[in-house]
Amino acid sequence: MNNFVYCNPTRIFFGRGETDRVGKECKNFGQRVLLVYGGGSIKQSGLYERVIHRLSEENLEIFELSGIQPNPRLDKVREGVNICRKHGVDIILAVGGGSVIDSAKIIAAGACYSEDPWDFFTGKTEIGKKLPLGTILTLAATGSEMNRNAVITNEVTKEKVAVRNPVLFPNFSILDPENTFTTPREHTVNGIVDMFAHVLEQYFHPTPETPLQDRLAEGIMKTIIEYAPQVLAHPHDYHARATIMWCGTLALNHLIEAGVEGDWATHRMELELSGMYDIPHGAGLAILFPQWMEYVFDVIPHKFAQFAERVWDIPSQGKDLNTLGHEGILRTKEWFREIGAPTSLTEVGIGEEHFQLLAERATRKGPLGTVKKLYPQDIVTIYRRSL
Ligand code: NZQ
Ligand code: ZN
Repeated sequence: MNNFVYCNPTRIFFGRGETDRVGKECKNFGQRVLLVYGGGSIKQSGLYERVIHRLSEENLEIFELSGIQPNPRLDKVREGVNICRKHGVDIILAVGGGSVIDSAKIIAAGACYSEDPWDFFTGKTEIGKKLPLGTILTLAATGSEMNRNAVITNEVTKEKVAVRNPVLFPNFSILDPENTFTTPREHTVNGIVDMFAHVLEQYFHPTPETPLQDRLAEGIMKTIIEYAPQVLAHPHDYHARATIMWCGTLALNHLIEAGVEGDWATHRMELELSGMYDIPHGAGLAILFPQWMEYVFDVIPHKFAQFAERVWDIPSQGKDLNTLGHEGILRTKEWFREIGAPTSLTEVGIGEEHFQLLAERATRKGPLGTVKKLYPQDIVTIYRRSL
């Protein structure tokens, strides 16, 4: 296990009815609230009304930024920053999925910076501070509600770039599983794949002697596998939604990466795809992950065998590491298909025309991954095998 520093400052309010505390929590940070949300699902579900009611009860002044799209865009972030500057906003409240929360994070940071927020993504400057940020999560997927990451797409260059900075942890997040009851099937599936992929990125790594991290990761994966069919069959099952929601948060709140060198190559390859083609992030991951696993298999066959045996309960008796490990990869791919995720680029309408460009963009800061370093040619090969 490697040395690590672990600090997660986000206060979580988890459970049925917790949404109603939003007014009081926001008031702790000031008077003027910028409410950030997406394309209208919160209006259809009644959550918007409920939030406005609770904020008004505390006499807070409300400003709004709506229309955040999946694969959220820079122009909306800039719009949000301008609202903050013009009205002296005290706290940002994001109500939605990862796209809304990520936008709100960069708006909160951009409001404390005098120039263009894209500078955070080009490396021109580091994020220094942000306005206070609260979130109400409506889709279990990214972990953004309790992590220090944000991913934004520059719609002009079609680059989708992630930043990581401890300043970006939300101050508080309300995780009320009932707010995910209305999440459509497709987005529920994408979210399940995304959280599972987050665990995979931190489970397959080159760091020796990480037994607790392994068991924690395996526990989250086994729980996702067990509860995914239940949320898909019964979208209003509180306990299933609650379980999946907490899996999504724990999968990427930096707990399971403490002391390990996560890989993250598959995520970097995927962000290039969803930036260029505007496909859902979870769909891209379902397609790429099994191919990445096959590509790096020979470096850590023992870990793939452990994954097969412990996560998928594949019997090991009479099998060598290779056979067992490959069975685990196959089972993962089959499971993605069973829950309704795509498993090839062709299925989502992507051909090979931009592979070279995407591979070069993905490696602009150097080769990807920790299990095996991936250079542009490796990435093109993985994209091709994913067709
Ligand atoms: O826009 P609205 O109307 O709200 O509809 C959304 C959107 O169309 C809908 N939705 C969300 N909750 C709903 C709902 N519809 C009905 N009822 C509800 N309760 O779902 C659609 C997708 O939402 P989005 O926020 O885009 O999904 P997700 O949470 O999966 O976020 C994906 C984005 O996060 C990034 C991805 O790359 C992608 O841009 N990621 C962020 C990470 C992070 N910050 O840590 C890590 C991830 O690896 C990922 O890269
Ligand atoms: Zn992800």
